[in-house]
Amino acid sequence: MAIINSDNLFYLHGKSVSMILENREGVVTLKHFGRKVKNYHFSNQLFERDHAFSGNRNPLNRTYSYDTQRHIVGQHGLGDFRQPAIRIQHQQNEWTDLKLVDYKVFKGHEQAVQLPNPYGLDDSDTLQLIFKDEVANIRYEIFYTVSEHTDTIVQLVRVTNESNQPIVLHRVLSSLLDVPAKPYDVMTLQGAYGREKTVRRQAVTQGLFSIGSNRGASGHAQTPAIILCDHNATDDYGNAIALQLMYSGNFQAFVQQNQLNEVRVGIGLSDDNFTWELAPQDSFDAPVALLSYSAQGLQGLTNESQSFVKEHIIPADFANKERPILINNWEATYFNFDKAKLLEIVDEAAALGMELFVLDDGWFGNRFDDNRALGDWYVNEAKLDGSLAEFIKEVHQRGMQFGLWIEPEMISQESDLYQEHPNWVIQVPGREHTYSRNQLVLDYSNPEVVQYMKKLFNDLLSTYDIDYIKWDMNRNMTNIGNGDTYLATRAQSHRYMLGVYELAAYLTQNHPTVLFESCSGGGGRNDLGMMRYFPQVWASDNTDAICRLDIQYGSNFLYPTISMGSHVSAAPNHQVNRITSVATRGDVAMMGNLGYELDLTQLNDEEKAIVKEQVARYKSIRPTVQNGQFFRLINPDEMRNEVAVQYTDDEQTIVTYVRILSTIETIETTLYLKGLEEEALYELTESRMQYSGAELMYAGLTMVLPAGDFLSQQLVFKKIK
Ligand code: DGJ
Repeated sequence: MAIINSDNLFYLHGKSVSMILENREGVVTLKHFGRKVKNYHFSNQLFERDHAFSGNRNPLNRTYSYDTQRHIVGQHGLGDFRQPAIRIQHQQNEWTDLKLVDYKVFKGHEQAVQLPNPYGLDDSDTLQLIFKDEVANIRYEIFYTVSEHTDTIVQLVRVTNESNQPIVLHRVLSSLLDVPAKPYDVMTLQGAYGREKTVRRQAVTQGLFSIGSNRGASGHAQTPAIILCDHNATDDYGNAIALQLMYSGNFQAFVQQNQLNEVRVGIGLSDDNFTWELAPQDSFDAPVALLSYSAQGLQGLTNESQSFVKEHIIPADFANKERPILINNWEATYFNFDKAKLLEIVDEAAALGMELFVLDDGWFGNRFDDNRALGDWYVNEAKLDGSLAEFIKEVHQRGMQFGLWIEPEMISQESDLYQEHPNWVIQVPGREHTYSRNQLVLDYSNPEVVQYMKKLFNDLLSTYDIDYIKWDMNRNMTNIGNGDTYLATRAQSHRYMLGVYELAAYLTQNHPTVLFESCSGGGGRNDLGMMRYFPQVWASDNTDAICRLDIQYGSNFLYPTISMGSHVSAAPNHQVNRITSVATRGDVAMMGNLGYELDLTQLNDEEKAIVKEQVARYKSIRPTVQNGQFFRLINPDEMRNEVAVQYTDDEQTIVTYVRILSTIETIETTLYLKGLEEEALYELTESRMQYSGAELMYAGLTMVLPAGDFLSQQLVFKKIK
């Protein structure tokens, strides 16, 4: 609900969050962002003093400075010396003096143009704040959208050039908040290829902490999200805010503590490789940001973000749709397959109860290894010993769905496409290419490329009976330089993302029943921009069950379990060479959307029996894992050797516990379950013992494992009705 009152106060009320803003002579400041406050009377008024070296706008009032106010815009050049939200080059300089000139409240939601937007916000309220720089003739708008069903505020920023000269945008952040001086921690999801989304937490101290990407993709190393929480917040206690960006390209996010210990947090497009020339009367929309809040600690923040993403970002047709158990041939065969080999795997998979066969890289053109043929998206019928249609028919006849791998954004130099269109590559004219996996990036800022790919992949999906697509992207962007001018080149990375979104929107709208899984060498672009089109993501190329514990912990921190593909692969593991039991690999993969990625024909009978049982078990717990409520039971910062998670719905509760290394002379771990009904009874299926919710939550549940490394246990409790 959005309310404006006569004191020039704006209230945005969510389910239990309030954002309160004050307009004082056109300067809008943040009075409160946190637990609900229905009526505000300036109880936390800033005690303003004559701060040295902070600029004053009014010579007669030396206690009022932009540098000490809590802003939502943050403007460069007027005496606020913190990180700005905008930097716009116009006739005079790069700074602006934006003042609120008007505001509106309306039902529904303003869409960002050409960018991913959340959906299902028609019953929300939007507060539109309209600012103007009257000298430079720049209009700057913030749209805050809020609903009583969530604690997530959606923010859209739009800049319009109302002058008669072009202006150049150097920075347009999507969200900025100044919050009061308090001890805070900042949390980010960091990592690298093969160890994506490692949760990092550190104290906020004076200075600037920033993360970001200039890779042309959000990247394996950083996620476009930043969490600010009370320094003493735990999973169950304290205030926590997450700023997230619905964007998949270059971004920045930062926390800055100034000389007064006040804290500014911001998120938006990166300044690297970004400038945007705005012609007179044109507008620019920054990517949408989400501001989520929880007063119930980090678990509360996780649940808030997970449910917002599920209800408003993951495509509606798939948000609650149970995902098929897949078998992918990548780690089974790599490029070395023929039709007979693939069908052997399909036969085994069908016999074990799996539901979807995914034909990974290598089915097209002259793609016998990863050095060639990207761009040549015609079926290699010699390798498939016939047409793709026949192959798909054979898969379907075995009762399995069919999925296919594609990598639409890439091109190999050794390809027919490169011969025909060498200028479709991102490159600096007259300079050498930079290679990565021996491939180059197609220039999606060029509409010709986007049109070509729209037709090509639409034809592919229209011609063949395809149930699933894995959309991969296996390198980052270099050699930006196709633009005719410096400014055009500086806009290329963002235009690239707009082109990719155009293709993704077109294909997913035209083929709404196809399940798309996004991938970028695993989780190299696992963000909310991609998730708006592709309901599932391959969280990491690292399929080792033990490495996956951290990756999945981080992937689940803000994104729902149903978005996370998770596979059982071979032992020894292909990435880290670790040997774990198929039982543990299964339990860990069942913490997400279960799949298999190994040569099933190589399993012995005992292993096949275990896999068959896992597949059957997963089918019975799948509704709860994928659509139930998710809880973390162990914080790895406190207990490095163990992981435990819980999934609960109205029918059952699943607890998965993994102990990494064997221990001696320790007390076994007791888990304290969460979110159960105190008085309800829960029956452990294995022993038929019944426990009350209160007992499982407050007395706890002791986990007992034999000696040994890499062991796990999955417990299923049925709720007695
Ligand atoms: C990288 C992906 O992450 C893998 O799963 C696989 O699809 C390969 N690319 C294929 O080239």
